[in-house]
Amino acid sequence: MRSLEIIAAFATLCSSHLAFGFSVQQVFDNSKDFKRPHAVKADTYNLNKRDTAPAFGSLQDEWSADVVGVQALRFEKSTAIAEICKKDVHNIETAGQLHQLLQSCRSISGTVQITDFMDPVIDLGGLQSINGDFIIENLPDVVRIQGHNLASIGGTFKVDSLTSLTSIYFPVLHHFDAIEWKVVPTLTSLSLAPNISHAKRITISDTSLVGIDVLENVEDLEIFNINNNRYLEYVKASLKQVHEQLSISSNSRDLQIDFPSLLWANNLTVRDVASVTFPSLQYVNQSLEVIENRFDSFEAPLLKTVGGTLGVIQNSRLVHVDFTNVTTIQGGLMIANNSNIEKIDFLPELREIGGAIQFIGSFHETELPKLRLVRGSAMVKSTSSVLDCSKWITPANGNSIIRGGRIVCTSGQTRNTARVSEDGKLLDHQETQFDIKPDSTTEKSSQGSSIVDKSKLSTFGWSLAFGWIVALICLATTQ
Ligand SMILES: *[C@@H]1O[C@H](CO)[C@@H](O)[C@H](O)[C@H]1NC(C)=O
Ligand SMILES: *[C@@H]1O[C@H](CO)[C@@H](O)[C@H](O)[C@H]1NC(C)=O
Ligand SMILES: *[C@@H]1O[C@H](CO)[C@@H](O)[C@H](O)[C@H]1NC(C)=O
Ligand SMILES: *[C@@H]1O[C@H](CO)[C@@H](O)[C@H](O)[C@H]1NC(C)=O
Ligand SMILES: *[C@@H]1O[C@H](CO)[C@@H](O)[C@H](O)[C@H]1NC(C)=O
Repeated sequence: MRSLEIIAAFATLCSSHLAFGFSVQQVFDNSKDFKRPHAVKADTYNLNKRDTAPAFGSLQDEWSADVVGVQALRFEKSTAIAEICKKDVHNIETAGQLHQLLQSCRSISGTVQITDFMDPVIDLGGLQSINGDFIIENLPDVVRIQGHNLASIGGTFKVDSLTSLTSIYFPVLHHFDAIEWKVVPTLTSLSLAPNISHAKRITISDTSLVGIDVLENVEDLEIFNINNNRYLEYVKASLKQVHEQLSISSNSRDLQIDFPSLLWANNLTVRDVASVTFPSLQYVNQSLEVIENRFDSFEAPLLKTVGGTLGVIQNSRLVHVDFTNVTTIQGGLMIANNSNIEKIDFLPELREIGGAIQFIGSFHETELPKLRLVRGSAMVKSTSSVLDCSKWITPANGNSIIRGGRIVCTSGQTRNTARVSEDGKLLDHQETQFDIKPDSTTEKSSQGSSIVDKSKLSTFGWSLAFGWIVALICLATTQ
């Protein structure tokens, strides 16, 4: 039951995700000048013109990197941060307001929020730090955000709904709590300091970035979530620990991800990915989800335990799975709809499952030689009639390893159902054939059965159609 709830949760998660992705896509499709990121057409003519416009030019001169040294000296002498630089929220609506703030402040105390801005470039000039958040939202005209000298943002660097933005340039930014960038569908260029020394949460969503490799020196994060980046080809990070969530999903179907140093993650989601490596992964403290990927091989050879549910679902090309060292799964184990997996035999050391088992697919063998205890129920459903259900239903020594009360094993057209007591004693056992109308025999089994029965129906439909064609051909040739 627990795992069914988990599936339901998966399902709602997916649908909300899809809905979100869809709305983003619409924005994206509506931006008429859009091409592949390599060919993004920002309005460069206008941009150049405005780039050198007097106001912007003077701002540039005054605050360009070259004069920072001198300016810094002057600011250090006047010890405290000037009053104008201290405010809970600095609301910026025009280039003039920004200019004024930057003229007086090297460091800003409080949050800087830019919500209305007609110019194409937001330039933070000589500003070195913002101790609150830096928030830029709903600005359709801004194409570039830059801060040559900004080293630190105390809170969140948020960029949301900047539909013309192509570049985020902060070459010395190495300290921030969170990056939250979303709905920046034309963003192709990103620059942060190479020596990021402090970062906690990074979410990058709906951009046109081709690669994300800004985390070469970050070992610890709470959240790393990369989703809906349609052209993303690679994500590389030398992370060792991810305390809450590591999630890569719904990006380009060609995405390759590389986490060579990752030791543990609280929960880990890999979805819609073309290739992945986790050569160092030892623990997943909560759930590990591997869903709808395009790779044929998934390897986590050092993984020992999964603290929640392990799900390997709908990976249509997956052939080779390496979980050689997994001994314990504290939640459920779900292996479903991986159409190329013929044997579920890739968990040779698995001893204990804290939740339920759900295996769905066309596999013809299940082999878990060291498995001694499954605290939940077991549902094993294969369209292959070669699958031997007897080892699930009638264990050799009379006692089942399944303690969750119920075992259902379906092999081709035969469904075996058994009830077991809490200590694994077999209470009763039933075998049902369903060859014509599968639905009529499923009255007692759980939601899961409709899944397989549906595919049965279509197989049945096909064979029926095929039968008719053959009959017609026979008729034609005999006449
Ligand atoms: C990171 O680099 C910036 C300049 O690029 C420098 O100011 C800063 O001190 C460096 N931080 C660390 C932790 O090395
Ligand atoms: C995850 O598990 C590892 C190894 O057991 C442990 O060191 C780490 O503290 C755990 N992390 C969390 C967030 O519980
Ligand atoms: C991952 O863990 C965090 C808490 O640490 C939780 O909020 C989040 O919902 C989890 N995500 C999934 C997909 O389980
Ligand atoms: C399993 O883990 C141990 C270390 O804990 C390691 O020596 C061994 O090589 C691992 N097995 C595989 C197949 O990688
Ligand atoms: C498995 O595939 C069937 C048919 O495509 C689908 O209805 C079902 O939701 C899938 N199950 C999971 C767990 O993805």
